[in-house]
Amino acid sequence: MTSAHSMHEAALARAPLSLVISNPNLDDNPIVFVNDAFTRLTGYSAEMAVGRNCRFLQGEETEPEAVEKFRTGLKQKHDFAVDLWNYRADGTRFRNHIIVTPLLSEEGDVAYFLALQQPVTGAVSADEALREVHHRVKNHLAMVVGMIRMQARADTTSSQGNYATLARRIETLQFLYNEMTASRYSARGDDEISLGAYISRIAAAIGYLDGREGVRMNLALEDMRAPIDTAAQVGLVASELLTNAYQHAFPDVEAGRIDVRLSKLSDGTVRLEVMDDGIGMSDGVVWPDANSLGGKIVSSLVDGMGAKLAQTDVLRGSAFNVDVPAKRFVRLKGEATVLAAAAP
Ligand SMILES: Nc1ncnc2c1ncn2[C@@H]1O[C@H](COP(=O)(O)OP(=O)(O)OP(=O)(O)O)[C@@H](O)[C@H]1O
Ligand SMILES: [Mg+2]
Repeated sequence: MTSAHSMHEAALARAPLSLVISNPNLDDNPIVFVNDAFTRLTGYSAEMAVGRNCRFLQGEETEPEAVEKFRTGLKQKHDFAVDLWNYRADGTRFRNHIIVTPLLSEEGDVAYFLALQQPVTGAVSADEALREVHHRVKNHLAMVVGMIRMQARADTTSSQGNYATLARRIETLQFLYNEMTASRYSARGDDEISLGAYISRIAAAIGYLDGREGVRMNLALEDMRAPIDTAAQVGLVASELLTNAYQHAFPDVEAGRIDVRLSKLSDGTVRLEVMDDGIGMSDGVVWPDANSLGGKIVSSLVDGMGAKLAQTDVLRGSAFNVDVPAKRFVRLKGEATVLAAAAP
């Protein structure tokens, strides 16, 4: 379309979307999660926002009709969008385009609300791009909700520590948004993303968060396209394995090496390998087990994909292979047509 349009898409791809999760089952529907992009957009840190109702972003010029629309929307069990004036921590106002999705429990009740927020700048409406991205990541948001539930069940220690691990897991999906917006507006504009690029974004982020001097990471990622569902699942598994390597493999070690590989085998199976030359798993331990959230997440993702996870024998450290069947990389024809039609 127009260059203003594509410039907007480029900006969307670069800036992670601001994302808020609230829990309507707690008194006054408080925020339970905000991501870093929310803090950048509003100036409010997670500590300042969590526990409060979203209305603290409203101010003098916030339109009562929009607030009413919001209130009505929250009562329905489907998506809705609202544009309204919100206020940053420093008092400046911004035009906020908010898309809200109720995330339902298995019983069909609203377990959480997820809100994506996009500041409206200039003449081009963010709505179209945002809606489409939103629509396509919905399944993965359901996965996030599943994780929050698992997290809540596993919750025995401080909520702050858990908040950090939850945030890390949600950020993995955040990169999926980025990769999607980037590839959605590329020439191909289909329902697949580059899996290699996605894994490398995840690896870079984890290396940045958990990395330290002396521990080097090597990536050998074959470039391949993957449907978004598969990419989301493989990405989350990669994130858990890599986080483990950084967090557990090198407790008192000065130097270490982590390898991440992605390759396609001759029968079309896609293999993800994460290995480290650290202390290794304790003897006889078969991972993943059901004792940790990380273990549960990986088991359920691996089962969900019909994949196989193997702990391979190495002289030093740990090595994991995840083999994802070729059929998880076949694009659905119908989907491709619909999206091609929607492409600019
Ligand atoms: N690469 C590794 N090197 C050495 N030990 C590991 C490695 N990966 C996992 N472990 C060991 O296995 C245990 C279980 O890992 P798992 O991911 O299931 O749980 P966690 O990392 O302790 O917690 P969570 O993932 O839920 O935040 C770890 O606590 C650690 O002792
Ligand atoms: Mg772990």
